[in-house]
Amino acid sequence: MSDFLFVTCQIGAEGAVKTEIGRRWPAFRFAFSRPGFLTFKLPAAHGLAADFDLESVFARAYGFSLGLVKAGAVANRGEAEKGEPHLLPEGTAEPGSFAGTEDAAIAAWKACQGRTVQRIHVWERDRFAPGVHGFEPNITPAAVDVHRSLFERCPQPQSLAKTASDPLQPAKPGEMVLDCIMLDDTQWWMGWHCANTFASRHPGGLISLTLPADAVSRAWLKMEEGLRWSQLPIPKGARVAEIGSAPGGASQALLARGFWVTGVDPAEMAPSVLANPHFTHVRRRSPQVRRREFRKIRWLTADMNVAPNYTLDAVEAIVTHPEVSIRGLLLTLKLPHWELAERVPEYMERVRSWGYNVVRARQLQYNRQEICLAALQKPFCRKPFHA
Ligand SMILES: C[S@@+](CC[C@H](N)C(=O)[O-])C[C@H]1O[C@@H](n2cnc3c(N)ncnc32)[C@H](O)[C@@H]1O
Repeated sequence: MSDFLFVTCQIGAEGAVKTEIGRRWPAFRFAFSRPGFLTFKLPAAHGLAADFDLESVFARAYGFSLGLVKAGAVANRGEAEKGEPHLLPEGTAEPGSFAGTEDAAIAAWKACQGRTVQRIHVWERDRFAPGVHGFEPNITPAAVDVHRSLFERCPQPQSLAKTASDPLQPAKPGEMVLDCIMLDDTQWWMGWHCANTFASRHPGGLISLTLPADAVSRAWLKMEEGLRWSQLPIPKGARVAEIGSAPGGASQALLARGFWVTGVDPAEMAPSVLANPHFTHVRRRSPQVRRREFRKIRWLTADMNVAPNYTLDAVEAIVTHPEVSIRGLLLTLKLPHWELAERVPEYMERVRSWGYNVVRARQLQYNRQEICLAALQKPFCRKPFHA
């Protein structure tokens, strides 16, 4: 088992990751970081299972660390094949003392300590915060190239999964994954993990979505990712309310899944959304909406450009009303200051106190300085109806 853990996250979220890990795993010692990338020294004989849950909101991906690979020729993409990368002895955190001259892939496989690698995940560390210079975290063409190179050099091709040649194909639960994080053009960090959750099955916790040409806002991406990650069991034909729905990208994602959507927002919805017969616009602020408007609604999403406690106040007023029975929630909580990240456990506790027994949160790939919180009542206990 490895001595170090690696974590990748959104640029700016490093402090939040350190705080979360310090609170949940006090024996892990922060070791090394670059923007969007951190390592932690694990305690001796930590006994962590290969697929252990880090229980982190801000870690987009994590795994056991193998070490740093210098891939000098990658600076010139065309030369990547001729590179002579080197792998650091396992767990060495500082670059500079490169050891060995073996090909990076072979060395990385050897460093997997005899584990049978079934899949390879390659991704680049984020270069900017989402939205800065138009940056969106994604699997880049450079990562696809490196994936191909590692795949072709695999010393045990017979052990790879059938679809392992596809750099975007998610791993199956239980598969052993070799991780390659491109820190920059010349250095890769190698690691491994056992796929388990939705995020750990995707390379770098990244899913590849393309904003449809007719999407009226980027919120389509957030909603689509939130629905996939949370796996809320919303049945086709369900009634969903969105608080903070304008101009309507998220509503489009919900409508495309066959849901009936009530959008609550004082701002204007895009005409194409208003034209959908399954969409109703309640053009008011949420406190001004009569509770009876929510009586037939079982699922509630919120994406308001306000502080988290305001969003939670607005949602609480709806879900705790005696005439309203909401089974599940998908909330965007904005973090106008990174210090608010420390209060995420408090926000989750508040949602639990409303009767939601499954509450999870994650900073999604398409979230900016905000998180997604999913909550479910399982089993669902509808409140007795009061006319
Ligand atoms: C980030 S935008 C929402 C984007 C939207 N979900 C989409 O899919 O295009 C935030 C919205 O929250 C709305 N908002 C802010 N406070 C609100 C409130 N109390 N009730 C309803 N909407 C609110 C704003 O009018 C604004 O349109």
